[in-house]
Amino acid sequence: MNEKNIIFTVNPGGALHGELRVPGDKSISHRSIMLGSLAEGVTEVTGFLEGEDALATLQAFRDMGVNIEGPDNGRVVIHGVGMHGLQEPKGPMNMGNSGTSMRLLCGLLAGQAFNTTLTGDRSLSSRPMRRVTEPLAEMGAVIGTTEAGTAPLNICGDQPLRGIAFDMPVASAQVKSCLLLAGLYAAGRTCVTEPAPTRDHTERMLQGFGYSVERVSLENNCATACVEGGGKLTATNVEVPADISSAAFFMVGASISEGSDILLQHVGINPTRIGVINILRQMGADITLSNQREVGGEPVADIRVRSAPLKGIQIPEDQVPLAIDEFPVLFVAAACAEGETVLTGAKELRVKESDRIQVMADGLQTLGVDARPTEDGMVIQDGGAGSTLGSGQVESHDDHRIAMAFAMAGLRASGPIIINNCANVNTSFPGFVTLAHGAGLNIKA
Ligand code: S3P
Repeated sequence: MNEKNIIFTVNPGGALHGELRVPGDKSISHRSIMLGSLAEGVTEVTGFLEGEDALATLQAFRDMGVNIEGPDNGRVVIHGVGMHGLQEPKGPMNMGNSGTSMRLLCGLLAGQAFNTTLTGDRSLSSRPMRRVTEPLAEMGAVIGTTEAGTAPLNICGDQPLRGIAFDMPVASAQVKSCLLLAGLYAAGRTCVTEPAPTRDHTERMLQGFGYSVERVSLENNCATACVEGGGKLTATNVEVPADISSAAFFMVGASISEGSDILLQHVGINPTRIGVINILRQMGADITLSNQREVGGEPVADIRVRSAPLKGIQIPEDQVPLAIDEFPVLFVAAACAEGETVLTGAKELRVKESDRIQVMADGLQTLGVDARPTEDGMVIQDGGAGSTLGSGQVESHDDHRIAMAFAMAGLRASGPIIINNCANVNTSFPGFVTLAHGAGLNIKA
């Protein structure tokens, strides 16, 4: 965790304009380092997210002896060591705030010949890890956690793994990816079935690196993904699109501030990630996609967002996993919408970088919004068309997405919003303040 208390001060009003390119996709950046490191040959990554989370993954592979050049303006060159070329790190590897690093690496490391320990910051050390350690144990892995099932994770090497067929109780791409990565090292076949669609970047990228992944479509857009252990990865180049989760702040900001018109360039629109577009459109947002193309196995588009009056909705539960990281800012949209917005089926929000249901409800209440947290979601009442939010001091609880969500709230506030503990914005969105300020948000750090 970042020790320094960075405070955002957002003065009210303004509108968003211009053409923006937000930083690279976090999920894809993590995976590019992992697969590039295990591949045979040299992988060049462009558009890599130089945020602390993806850098934690990068550092872990350097600690395991992989020669990685950069990052230099989003360019990373990875000299792959092959499936069995990683070396024992000198000490524990610190994953910082990054759940993706810890959970995916846990699976990958369970298949190595050496022991490793993964640690994290205070937030990461309180997040549930049994969701990965238990199915990994079924595969034969030996992993120690605290009594609470949290990090540090002590992963014993040299354990023979066997493939399993696992029905995930929670819709989690991190769990799915963890098991597929362990499955690369397991005897036989590892299959993971999701209860609701989850992001499929691991499956796509494995295929991009020449590893066969069998995917069977099920009802409700869900899938089973299977890999056969013992294969190899072949280096390829990865072009990382801009992160739709980062673009989401600007989509909401432009929607709620009158007179806004922005173009978000080269944004990843993988169908497992576009819940934020679907939900905002259902609320009445004016969002158009252009220049749709495929880049390195991932769909990409430019996204134009113009301000529009939003209305409250019952958020369809099937959209929840597709927008799981965007709810902090979607709550801000709901607070600016006419009518009631109800979210259910989103209990996972309570175990993200912070308890995003409670923390957002607290902050919105500080701003005078009628936001009632429920066990698995939130009810946000009529802000009234064109109404403003209040002002005040809110707490981000070191959660990057909470900080950026409340920053966007400033566009519709009646007075300044002061947001505490914003240093972790650097985990996913380095340069946020400069980019947002340039687009018209009255923000300073
Ligand atoms: C991620 C999966 C999601 C998401 C996280 C990134 C990934 O987590 O919230 O920010 O890269 O696989 P869960 O798998 O826990 O839903």
